[in-house]
Amino acid sequence: MKYRKLGESELKVSVLSFGAWQIGDPNYWGPGGDAEADAVVKAAMDAGVNFYDTAEAYGGGESERQLGKALGDRRKDVYVASKVSPENCAPGKLRQSCEASLQRLGTDYLDLYQVHWPFHDAGAEEVYGEFAQLQEEGKIRYIGVSNFGPTDLLRSALQHAPVISNQIGYNLIFRAIEYEILPMCQRHGLGILAYMPLMQGLLAGRWGRVEDVPVVRRRTRHFASSREQTRHQEDGCEQLLFKTLGGIARVAEHEGVTMATLSLAWVMARPGVSSVMVGCRRPEQLERNLAAVGVKLRPETIKQLDKLTHPIKEHLGANADLWQAGEESRIR
Ligand SMILES: NC(=O)c1ccc[n+]([C@@H]2O[C@H](COP(=O)([O-])OP(=O)(O)OC[C@H]3O[C@@H](n4cnc5c(N)ncnc54)[C@H](OP(=O)(O)O)[C@@H]3O)[C@@H](O)[C@H]2O)c1
Repeated sequence: MKYRKLGESELKVSVLSFGAWQIGDPNYWGPGGDAEADAVVKAAMDAGVNFYDTAEAYGGGESERQLGKALGDRRKDVYVASKVSPENCAPGKLRQSCEASLQRLGTDYLDLYQVHWPFHDAGAEEVYGEFAQLQEEGKIRYIGVSNFGPTDLLRSALQHAPVISNQIGYNLIFRAIEYEILPMCQRHGLGILAYMPLMQGLLAGRWGRVEDVPVVRRRTRHFASSREQTRHQEDGCEQLLFKTLGGIARVAEHEGVTMATLSLAWVMARPGVSSVMVGCRRPEQLERNLAAVGVKLRPETIKQLDKLTHPIKEHLGANADLWQAGEESRIR
């Protein structure tokens, strides 16, 4: 395993981190995740993965519960991060959320407590003041944000709290953060925790046609707004998407690695990224994903991938919200 500093904090996190949404939320991910939760978390710990991410929202707290149980008495050997939902970012409610997360996880501290999505109903000063209090009490070690764009970073988080990281979607076919967010995080010393590095399976080459992609995984702005459950009004770029995926598959074949390995290795190679957060439901998936840690892409390959994915980057633009667009975008 390789480790990197998370922003300017003292945390040294594994370049591949464990996304625990997949355990404890069968409504989204389908059945089967729970049965192997203990085995996949144990395999991750044995492989040196030391950063585990969950949220109060995942499976209504079930992800936290299962993660805590699976970590068991090895919890102190790793970093545990959770997230508070925006509606609970209010004085009083934040403390309640934090304490409930600690209880579900079976721990008395979080290494990183993150704002899951920007909040606008309560005053930033008061909310971050409560974060600071939780920090003083030792309930949280560090404060992070997630899905924060330039405006929310500058006007809110960075003004009021010693934030160390921004957890945000980043992968070969979703490069929106490269326009403004990534450079801003680098300038302010925030580590990027990249979520959806496999685009929930698309970048593992799992599906060749839109129709085969599970409904909940085809709600992003890559897909037409006519698809079920989408929350944007855009046309999507389905043809370009599958053309790009085909190109990535060919590069992977040429490099002699799987498409998933190539995709993860590309995110790991991006400057500013502290850790690549991948979701695995089975130990075999984890094993396969760990292979990316040992892959060092040649500069020509990175250039080739950048060029290949440039049209889709341009098409989707600087809006870093995967699901909502225009005035409805939550990342500003
Ligand atoms: N802050 C936020 O707003 C936010 C949003 C999304 C995610 N996250 C975090 O990021 C973590 C990662 O999840 P994600 O949604 O970002 O998705 P992801 O990691 O891009 O994809 C995970 C899914 O890809 C499939 N997969 C994994 N490894 C594979 C392999 N080697 N070959 C083929 N398929 C493979 C699995 O699908 P199957 O289960 O179908 O096998 C898995 O559930 C989450 O657990 C969560 O902690 C945060």
